[in-house]
This record gives sequence, C-alpha cells and structure tokens, in this order.
Amino acid sequence: MKIKDLPKSHPARIKRRKRIAVWTFVFIMMSALVAPFSGFLLSGIDGAIAQEQKPASNPRADYWRAVKGGVSGYSSIKGPETGVLTQSAGIDWANFRRGPIVKYAPWAIGAMLLLILLYHVIHGKNRLIHRPSGVMVPRWSWFERLVHWTTAISFIVLSITGLSMLLGRTLLLPIFGGMEGGKAAYAAWAQMSIQLHNVFGPVMSVGVVLMIVMWIWHNFPSKGDWNWIKSGGGIIGNKHPPAGRMNFGEKVWFWIICTFGLAVVISGLAMVAPSYPSVAAMLPVTLTRGLMQDANVWHVVAGIVWMVVAIGHIYIGTAGTEGALQGMTTGYVSAEWAEQHHSLWFNKLRRQGRISRHPDRYARGHSAIRQRSL
Ligand code: HEM
Repeated sequence: MKIKDLPKSHPARIKRRKRIAVWTFVFIMMSALVAPFSGFLLSGIDGAIAQEQKPASNPRADYWRAVKGGVSGYSSIKGPETGVLTQSAGIDWANFRRGPIVKYAPWAIGAMLLLILLYHVIHGKNRLIHRPSGVMVPRWSWFERLVHWTTAISFIVLSITGLSMLLGRTLLLPIFGGMEGGKAAYAAWAQMSIQLHNVFGPVMSVGVVLMIVMWIWHNFPSKGDWNWIKSGGGIIGNKHPPAGRMNFGEKVWFWIICTFGLAVVISGLAMVAPSYPSVAAMLPVTLTRGLMQDANVWHVVAGIVWMVVAIGHIYIGTAGTEGALQGMTTGYVSAEWAEQHHSLWFNKLRRQGRISRHPDRYARGHSAIRQRSL
C-alpha cells in the first residue's frame, strides 16, 4: 500500500508531514543565511571584478560632497521642503541610526538566541506526558493557517532584508569586501533587499491586520491567566498550568503584534508613501523629512523588539514544544496536547461534546480514534 493511500491521521503520514515541515523550516533558515550571497549571482562575478578595477569614483558621492561643500542648486519640484537640500536633524538621525541602533541590535538578537540555546540545552523540549492516542482536536482553520504562514514567511523575508539594510555596511560588507567581486555582490544584494522589502512589506501588513481581526477575541485577559503567571507558565520544571484557547504567554505575543507590529506597519507606510503621491495626499499628516526620520527610528526599534520576541515564538512553536507545529501545519492537535497545554479550552470543547462528535475528519473510520474514550 502506498503511503498516500493511508488515512491522513495514520502515523506514517503524520511522520511524513512532520518530516516535510521540519525540512521546510530548515530550508527556510538555511536560505536566510545564504540569501545575501546571492548578490554574487545578481551582480555577475566577471562584471563585478571589472567594476572594482575601475578608478574609485562614485558620481553620487561626488555630488553629495559638493552639496556638503556649500554648492547651491534649485528645485523645480513643488512639495513640502523641496527647497531644503540638507538639514542638520538628518545628520543627528543618521548618527543615531549608525550609532546606538547598529551597535545594540545585533546584541539584542544574539542575546535572545543564546538564551534560547541555553534553555534548550538545560531544560530540553517541552514533551507530551501521554503519547498521542490518535484523537485529534481542530485548532486552526485553513484560512487562519494561510494568514499565519503568509505573514510568517513575509516576516522572515522582511527581517533578513531589513537587517541586511541596517547592518549590511557593518556586518556584511567586511565579509563580502574581502572576496573577489564582493563589493559589487554586496551592492547587488543591498538593492535586492530594498526591492524585496517593498514587495513583502504590504503583504505582511495585510497579514498582521487580518491576524489582529481574527484572533483579538481569544486574547483578552481572562480568569485563568493569573494562575498561569503565578506558575511562570510552566517554563521551569514540568508543571502545566491550566489555560484557555490561548495561554498568557501567547496573549503577550499577540499584543506585541498589535503594538510593535502595527508600529512597524504604520511607520513603514509613512516611509514609502512619498513615493506614491496619491497615497501621501490621503494621509492626515504632511510627511516632512523630520517625520520620516522619526518613522524610520520607530520602524527600526519596534522591528528589532518584534524580531527578538519572534525568535522566542518560533522556538516555542517548533523545537520547544512537542506537537505545537502540527496544529499550525495540519489544523489539528492531538487531544493529549490540547489537554496538557490548554486544559480549560479542551474541557470546554469536551463539555460541548465537540471532541467526541467530531474526531479528526481525516480519520473517520480509523479504529484507533473511535476506541479512545473521552
Ligand atoms: C517560522 C516561523 C513561525 C513558526 C514556526 C510559528 C509557529 C506557530 C505555531 C505552532 C502556532 C500555534 C500555537 C498554538 O497552537 O497554540 C503559532 C501561533 C501564532 N503565531 Fe506563529 N509562527 C511563526 C512565525 C510567526 C510570525 C512571524 C508571526 C507574526 C507576525 C506569528 C504570529 C502568530 C500568532 C498571532 C499566533 C496565535 C497566537 C495568539 O493568537 O495568541 N507567527 N505560530
């Protein structure tokens, strides 16, 4: 019998789905690491070498040197501040961005990765106490999963391209610069990063808004939260505090998306809007350079905080908790997982008779499922 002819909840098919999910995840992470090196392909190594052998003259840099040297010009463009060529606040902004932001961002991300690594080595995976019997509980609809994964993939692309733009000169250029054709490859990747950021930004923005609308109802504070907080969410030790459909930790993650995520989306919109005058005209504020500098600082700071917390979310959803990823990939979690991690929600479903009446729809007729007493 071929594996595709087995029922979807057959252990062999579940194992295969898990394998695909794990390898897809590994593939995405590996791609993230090697993506900047695609700059070599984009620029064409031969062309890049020829370019680097030319005398070092950059017309754009010469122009800005002249501007800084006091050469005056004129602008026929009508719009806010078009007659102002340089402004000192811009220098302050650039120094802040190149200074503390670039200095601390890699440390914040590195510290979170280290913390998770230490936790995983010391505490290990949060395993299921009872082996799954085969009874499945519906947790996420296909639409919720579509929105989640579209947003998650966009978020990863935006994180890689955003970090490449922010830290490229400090971290990537020294690595690329030492290689033949490296500078042109870096420039090509930097260009590509901007394009990808502009394409995936709107996709993720729509995803974030949909997530908020779909899930806000599950994420308001509830009675069980205090117990969950008091027992530290069961992070240390093997206790599993009772929780509703979302536990307090997930609620915090959700509200971080509502605040920091929306800050990233709105500030991103403020930065691209001037390129689309008809969009800019609809906004209730005039997008001056000062406002866009502020938007840039908000965008980067909120984005870094969001990324740091997202690393924790990704860990908990994959290597940190046995069975969680299955829910977001197939839509179903095992009854044992639901009972262990979200007992209040599970008991409510059981009281409503929604578990016994609706076992895994993929597995109707699968005897192991019918035999499990609930
Ligand atoms: C590779 C990256 C990611 C993985 C593996 C992942 C995994 C998961 C999993 C397994 C769940 C279900 C948890 C449960 O059933 O209780 C979940 C829920 C969720 N994820 Fe992700 N996720 C990723 C990225 C993201 C990103 C980037 C965002 C936001 C931009 C996000 C937002 C959410 C939200 C809002 C929930 C529901 C939690 C709630 O409403 O409180 N995820 N994720």
